[in-house]
Amino acid sequence: MNKSVRKAVIAGNWKMNKTPAQTTALIQELAPLTKGQDGCDIVVCTPFVDLANALEATKGTNIKVGAQNVHFEAAGAFTGEISAEMLCEMGVEYVIIGHSERRQYFGETDETVNKRVKAALASGLTVILCVGEMLDERENGITNEIVAMQTKMALLGVTADQMNKVIIAYEPVWAIGTGKTATADQAEEVCAFIRSVLADLYGEEAAKTVPVQYGGSMNAGNAAELLAKENIDGGLIGGASLKPADFAKIIQAAQN
Ligand code: PGA
Repeated sequence: MNKSVRKAVIAGNWKMNKTPAQTTALIQELAPLTKGQDGCDIVVCTPFVDLANALEATKGTNIKVGAQNVHFEAAGAFTGEISAEMLCEMGVEYVIIGHSERRQYFGETDETVNKRVKAALASGLTVILCVGEMLDERENGITNEIVAMQTKMALLGVTADQMNKVIIAYEPVWAIGTGKTATADQAEEVCAFIRSVLADLYGEEAAKTVPVQYGGSMNAGNAAELLAKENIDGGLIGGASLKPADFAKIIQAAQN
């Protein structure tokens, strides 16, 4: 089975939640629960201002830290933005790019997503690249076209070698924060399709090694069924990642 060549990645997307002090407290509660759970990589993606506390609180644990966005320029007059170098110097290892909330509310396009991906990879960050269709796109039968285009445009100019630092998160927009999870079969179908897109771009062998996560109302109750699928290599988890006991259950479900 190809799944065995990929390590699952369970990543929490905290979105705009938790202050620095709350970040320390949450990680202190989470860390004992993840001890020895080394069958998957564990990441928490916090707001920028919480990263320092997250890095401190995760020292000596198996939890890694990610940001939720990064700017594509190295430095300059970009008020409010954060560069890849700033994140790397802090010790941040992961960054979410192209989340649907960034695309919907903050004007991110496939082009800016691509620029951010390239800047992040050039700095050595591991990218969690989000793709996914809206409800009307699914209902119109164009899910595959949408995720193929988002994936291909985000990865323009990304080399096969760089793909060992890319994780794709398939997140159907209609399933995010709605409590409406894609069924395991629906999620598997699109994750497998994304892998075929990666195979077109980089060849079968390279495509086998790229983790493809599912995200969208994944929780302690439905994680095991989703994670058992051949092409689902972990999850990007919003709401449930803010509850240590629930997040730990998802991590447990990813151990096999
Ligand atoms: P959710 O969010 O788990 O709360 O649906 C997932 C995400 O947006 O990454």
